[in-house]
Amino acid sequence: MISEKITKLINEQIVHEQYAAQYYLCMSAWFYRENLEGIANYFRVQSKEELLHADKMFDYLNNVGADIEIGAIDKPEQQFKNATDIFEKALAHEKKVTQLIFNIMKNANEEGDFATSSFLQWFVNEQVEEEASASQLVSKIKMVCDNPSALYLFDQELSQRVFSPKTEF
Ligand code: FEO
Repeated sequence: MISEKITKLINEQIVHEQYAAQYYLCMSAWFYRENLEGIANYFRVQSKEELLHADKMFDYLNNVGADIEIGAIDKPEQQFKNATDIFEKALAHEKKVTQLIFNIMKNANEEGDFATSSFLQWFVNEQVEEEASASQLVSKIKMVCDNPSALYLFDQELSQRVFSPKTEF
């Protein structure tokens, strides 16, 4: 039986994931305005992934018979200094999400809620991947941001990303 505390944390996490989706959509829009459509595509796919994360949590709460209560999503920041600023903010945001997931995991472990711990393991693994990928992109954008030819190629590289929902959990 899932506790009220864990239910509340997961309900809140659904909104955090939806906020992340909105945030990445703002980042995508910035790159579209700069005619960097490949990078814009990258963030658009990232936004869809975040919605999938929220959906997974929604399904979990439903499966365990918990009360689902969806809160409001804050308006994300829309003003960015430059491309590097965006990638750095994306990495910082992923680190914040990781801490939020860890906090739910910690509470689930303390309660002996093994079902929730098992469910959250997928997210723990996902955050490792997301932080690694975001960190790599911060390094790359710093390498290419002042070189139009290199930036063009980087944009081409990120245009290849496609949304492919992972189902391994
Ligand atoms: Fe759902 Fe990027 O964390």
